[in-house]
Amino acid sequence: MIPLMDKPYVDSFANHHVRKERGLPKLKGNMSPLRYPGGKGKLAQFLAAFILENELQGCELVEPFCGGAGGTLPLLDAGIINSLVINDINTGLAAFWRSLLSNTEELIYLIDTCQIDINNWQHYKNIYLNPEKYSEVELGFAAFFLNRTNRSGMFHAGPIGGKAQQGNYLIDCRFNKVNLIKRIVHIASLKDKITFRSDDANEVINSSANDSLIYADPPYVKEGKNIYSKYSFNDLEHKKLSNTIKSQSKYWLLSYDDVPLIHNLYSGSGINVIELSYVMNKAKVGRELLIASSFLSMPQL
Ligand SMILES: C[S@@+](CC[C@H](N)C(=O)[O-])C[C@H]1O[C@@H](n2cnc3c(N)ncnc32)[C@H](O)[C@@H]1O
Repeated sequence: MIPLMDKPYVDSFANHHVRKERGLPKLKGNMSPLRYPGGKGKLAQFLAAFILENELQGCELVEPFCGGAGGTLPLLDAGIINSLVINDINTGLAAFWRSLLSNTEELIYLIDTCQIDINNWQHYKNIYLNPEKYSEVELGFAAFFLNRTNRSGMFHAGPIGGKAQQGNYLIDCRFNKVNLIKRIVHIASLKDKITFRSDDANEVINSSANDSLIYADPPYVKEGKNIYSKYSFNDLEHKKLSNTIKSQSKYWLLSYDDVPLIHNLYSGSGINVIELSYVMNKAKVGRELLIASSFLSMPQL
């Protein structure tokens, strides 16, 4: 029997009384400068409760599919975890995170001075697709530019408002420079506690320390190809990841879309269904699962 934990259950950990009772701090929302379809910012308060429930506060958290790291940066900011290892195999995204952590000033300069229009969109799309001739910060900024100007933040999608720039929402509507630079400065202030890697997630999981907590949010089974294009998984890769994860005697927690393949791969582990509906192209896609290694427990209300 799989316990169903609905959205109100997950949201309740942000409730003032529940937080007070459990000694949970209020986490900073929207820390990530990146937009991510299926981004896990809304999960941060639950992750904090999960960490406290399992007495893992102060641990190193490893996020092998980090994307915008929206769910885990607030944990570091609040001191719930001591260090954060973020990893993503997307080369443009990797250049962005490396630039943020090691070349902050130049990245900020590029954000501050760029003009947000279709000509530049084409220019940065070319850089993203042909990165060889460009520096790390140029590629990182190009990835950031596309993430902020494309539909749903998807790197391979078209610009908001289309190439003709028509409609109520245009290319610059998600590009509030002041706010985005603030977020980048804030994350850079935590850089001594952040390690970025750009390796295959299986390798990152295998090489992580025995006492770290792995929080993995792999590409979705159903919508993965539409959202992450070449950085998605086929069934065999989902299976390989499940073998990697299940062979660990480490602490791990996974979020996934609620599809039969994932039930088959992880039955026997502690599967909990949570209703975290996510929205793609205005269509409600589905529920998500939270799966934890069987020796960890989900926080109860
Ligand atoms: C579901 S997203 C993560 C979203 C993230 N949790 C957030 O809140 O922004 C999955 C990420 O996995 C990355 N990815 C895909 N295959 C990978 C692999 N083999 N190793 C590491 N990262 C991979 C993709 O580039 C994508 O950014």
